[in-house]
Amino acid sequence: MPPSRMVEVVENGRRDAMGLRKVDSRASITEADDLDLARLPDRPRIKIERKRSFDERSLSEHLAGGSLRQVDSVESIFSLGGLRSVLDSPSSLGHHSFEPHPMFAEAWDALRKSIVLFRSQPVGTIAALDHTSEEVLNYDQVFVRDFVPSAMAFLMNGENDIVKNFLLKTLHLQGWEKRIDRFKLGEGVMPASFKVRHDPIRKNDNLTADFGESAIGRVAPVDSGFWWIILLRAYTKATGDMTLAESPECQRGMRLILALCLSEGFETFPTLLCADGCSMIDRRMVGQTFDSASLYCRALLTKPISQGVYGYPIEIQALFFMSLRCALSMLKQDSEGKEFIERIVKRLHALSYHMRNYFWLDFQQLNVIYRYKTEEYSHTAVNKFNVIPDSIPDWIFDFMPNRGGYFIGNVSPARMDFRWFALGNCIAILSSLATPEQSAAIMDLLEERWEELVGEMPLKIAYPALEGHEWRIVTGCDPKNTRWSYHNGGSWPVLLWLFTAACIKTGRPQIAQRAIDLAESRLSKDGWPEYYDGKTGRYVGKQARKFQTWSIAGYLVAKMMLEDPSHLGMISLEEDRAMKPPVKRSASWTI
Ligand code: GLC
Repeated sequence: MPPSRMVEVVENGRRDAMGLRKVDSRASITEADDLDLARLPDRPRIKIERKRSFDERSLSEHLAGGSLRQVDSVESIFSLGGLRSVLDSPSSLGHHSFEPHPMFAEAWDALRKSIVLFRSQPVGTIAALDHTSEEVLNYDQVFVRDFVPSAMAFLMNGENDIVKNFLLKTLHLQGWEKRIDRFKLGEGVMPASFKVRHDPIRKNDNLTADFGESAIGRVAPVDSGFWWIILLRAYTKATGDMTLAESPECQRGMRLILALCLSEGFETFPTLLCADGCSMIDRRMVGQTFDSASLYCRALLTKPISQGVYGYPIEIQALFFMSLRCALSMLKQDSEGKEFIERIVKRLHALSYHMRNYFWLDFQQLNVIYRYKTEEYSHTAVNKFNVIPDSIPDWIFDFMPNRGGYFIGNVSPARMDFRWFALGNCIAILSSLATPEQSAAIMDLLEERWEELVGEMPLKIAYPALEGHEWRIVTGCDPKNTRWSYHNGGSWPVLLWLFTAACIKTGRPQIAQRAIDLAESRLSKDGWPEYYDGKTGRYVGKQARKFQTWSIAGYLVAKMMLEDPSHLGMISLEEDRAMKPPVKRSASWTI
């Protein structure tokens, strides 16, 4: 880090013409982050106060049995060449003057209108403020996952209280006894959503929460607890206020979440086995996909299809990994925390190995699977999960570019779901579950398959869509999830913020800019829909809400992050040396 590096501290709390506060990303980036972000061209001088009060504690540090003092994390992902394309690219941020688009002010306005008060305190944002829709369903609630981009926008704007209140309110809800019929749920389960009800007679506000008992499908939201931990770290990074994370309540809340997902059972894999529909894709969708012409599928179709599809969805595995790393940086090494720290360290090791080996797919690996032998026994097996090559869907052979790769949707015994899922892959980049080479390969894929994965409206939630028999089997004939709609190949503007963060981390902000330009051409005109339909995302979703808060917040966060990439530290973790891959498998692995 050159000592002469320009550091401009901006007064915290100053507001600009739009009423937005200029925020210094206090303690929001590690020193290694500084170094590389400084190299982004044509960006305003970065506002960094070089306080290092909350850097990540690296896994290597824990492994070495070191004290919990903050140490420099390992080398930055950027320094491994991630910035290549920014520096090489003629179309990098040069054209981008950071002039606020008129949509930016409109989005802030809409975001503020979605704020929910509880006893006069802001505690979250409702899912959608759609006055045109008669069917409110549960869109008038504060969803934990939906609030994350809102929270990021508020934190980037120095409005920290709403985030703190939300974290405390949901922590309080975690403490409730949760039942579905006669079954008591685990203590650590966080709600999917909560609702503030105003009692006009008593002039009081009351809370109700949904832990899955009201949700369609009655599935507990596995992702809520993970997002809660990730948000707690983002809050701490953005504010420099460690007292919240260090409070006994938050420490306990974290431990309860971790106890749920680190418990021992009959597992032979370090991944987390989940019911379908336990994340953003909250309906049956995350199962396995087969080419309908394949022999295996034909065999399957002769059998009655009654049970739901369970598995190891990438969306959850990536969030699991990220939340473990976030928790590791915040847990106290006291008598109770210590045991969890040890379990996290071991799990992270095993999880990164498993994911990087068995979920990773690129051209070379596809060729290996294509030539798999089956029925192999013992530890010498190459085809460890006995995947039958006939079950590889046809589309993947054309889709897979020579350059690029990604983490596939699901891997379990004899089952591979080859579909692309955007959230899991972006989180894999941000959490450094993906190695720097894999991260670059994911971005290569996005560039090579832009039409399919971004199209006319960023970003496809999953690709490709399930049709015909597959749609019947996997979605259970779900009319909301018809091909190229909603979770089944629909395009979700909210994903823009995660995509932008991944682009910045891999040194390709110009790609994020391209996606933002697409969003700016339609989002406001179309009334900020929840999702778009069609192969290229051209049509406003069949049942999409308008003024969907996370579409609005996702856009704001993407804009603010691109304007000031130092915000990236809130949602990004560097690679940890202790998790370096022990094996080299194909081109996109090569260091
Ligand atoms: C839908 C989405 C879910 C989201 C909720 C509220 O159910 O599938 O991810 O949290 O709407 O917006």
